[in-house]
Parts: sequence; structure tokens; C-alpha cells
Amino acid sequence: MTQKRKAFVAGATGYTGQQVVRILAAQGVEVVAHVRPDSASLQRWRDQFEGQGAQVDTTAWEPAAMRQTLADIGPDLVFCLIGTTRARDRQSEADAGYEAIDFGLTRLLVEACAESAPAARFVYLSALGVRPGSRSAYYRARWKAEEAVRASGLAYLIARPGLITGPDREESRPLERVAGVVSGALFKGVRALGGKTLYDAYAPTDAQELGGALVRRALEASEDALVVEPPQLRQERPQA
Ligand SMILES: NC(=O)c1ccc[n+]([C@@H]2O[C@H](COP(=O)([O-])OP(=O)(O)OC[C@H]3O[C@@H](n4cnc5c(N)ncnc54)[C@H](OP(=O)(O)O)[C@@H]3O)[C@@H](O)[C@H]2O)c1
Repeated sequence: MTQKRKAFVAGATGYTGQQVVRILAAQGVEVVAHVRPDSASLQRWRDQFEGQGAQVDTTAWEPAAMRQTLADIGPDLVFCLIGTTRARDRQSEADAGYEAIDFGLTRLLVEACAESAPAARFVYLSALGVRPGSRSAYYRARWKAEEAVRASGLAYLIARPGLITGPDREESRPLERVAGVVSGALFKGVRALGGKTLYDAYAPTDAQELGGALVRRALEASEDALVVEPPQLRQERPQA
């Protein structure tokens, strides 16, 4: 009998994370959804995730605590779907937030995973356009986070989606929504005119499509080192 797979999902409360938890659970994976311990909506997340058959974990973002949790769970997959945004942090603090959260918490999780669950695959949600030497604090932090994943010795899947948005996005992000609606409409026109390749590469994706692609690729991955971009992240919608 094949053993049940186990997944730990950091960033479970995010737009993408919620779909990843739901799809993993629907596919019979044992899921531990991580929620930060000081979350103001902890009970709401418990109701949602436990209702889907997942467990909720509220380990503090501290190295020793995270090492212990991952040792106790023994996951096959660790998803890192976290990151701050200018909508969450005040703009003046956002650049520091990218370094401390997008890079700092990813490094903390990847190091804890390498030490306590070295056989797990680390699935890191990065972003399209991440490269070394960028002038943007966001891209610099994400490149450093990717480098920490690559240097960890863990098997990994780094996903670099373009804009992630859809009508089901709860959080108010007026600029991203406008960009998503405008570019979504634009790319539908491009696709209608035969530009499927351009559409596949750059049109926004919603969390259901991205979550489905992330879960499928993570469960099916056989190579140790995988970096995937939009054409490979644009899958048919999961039935779950
Ligand atoms: N949105 C896009 O268009 C886009 C495009 C490409 C790549 N990405 C990257 O993909 C990642 C996921 O995107 P998304 O849209 O699903 O993100 P999201 O909805 O903003 O969710 C972000 C997640 O990170 C957690 N988080 C934020 N600050 C934290 C902190 N200080 N401590 C602990 N946890 C914290 C949030 O937890 P709480 O709910 O507790 O705050 C949430 O679970 C992002 O980090 C982003 O950089 C995004």
C-alpha cells in the first residue's frame, strides 16, 4: 500500500495558500496548514481548514520551534507561499518587509526543513522576473530566497508565476485588481487573435489554476531541482 503523503503549508491563509490546502486535502494528502500564532482570524482559519480535513499548526516563526514542528510532522512536501505586500505593510516599511519576510522567513523555513525534514521537497512560490542584480527590493529579496532554497541541499520546486489575481481575491488590492482585469481582458483578445503563446506566458492566473498546477507538479516531480514559469503553471482547472 502506498503511504499517505504529508504536506506542511506555510502561507496557508494567503490567496494561493488557501487553494493549495484545499486541493491537497481533496487529493487525499495529509495537510498541515500553518497559521501565524498571532493571527487575528485564527478561529476562522481553523473552521475553514479543519472543515476541509486539514490540521492547523500555529508554530511561531522561530528557528528552533519550526525545526521541532517539522521533525514532529515529517512532511514529504513543504510549501512556502508567504510574502508581504505594499497592501499589507505601509509603503515606507515595505522594502524592509521584503527582506525580513519574503527572504527572512523563507530562509528560516528552508533551514528548518533541511535540518528536520531533509527528505522533503521544498516548494517555493517566487515570482516571474526574479533574477540577480535587480534594483527592486522585492526582486532582490526573492532572488535571495531562491538562492537559499537552491543552496539548502533539499529537492525543490521553485514556481515563478506572473500576476496572481481573480474575482475571488478577498483582500482589497485595487491596483492589482485593475491590472489583473485590464491585462486579463487584453490577453483574452491576444488569445482570440491567435497569440496563445503570449497569453500562456504573461496573462494573470487565479489561485485555483495556480494552486492546482503547484500541487500537481509537486506531487509528480521526480527531478531534484525544478524551476517552473507560467506556461507550465497554466494547467487545466483541477476537478477538486
Ligand atoms: N500576488 C501576485 O500577483 C504575485 C505574483 C507573483 C508572485 N507572488 C508571490 O507569491 C506569494 C503568494 O502570493 P499570494 O497572492 O497568495 O499572497 P497573499 O495572499 O498576500 O498571502 C501572503 C501569505 O504570507 C503570509 N504573511 C505575510 N506577512 C507575514 C508575516 N509577517 N509573518 C508571517 N506570515 C506572513 C500571510 O499570512 P497572514 O494571512 O497571516 O497575513 C499569507 O498567508 C507572495 O508572497 C508573492 O510575493 C505574488
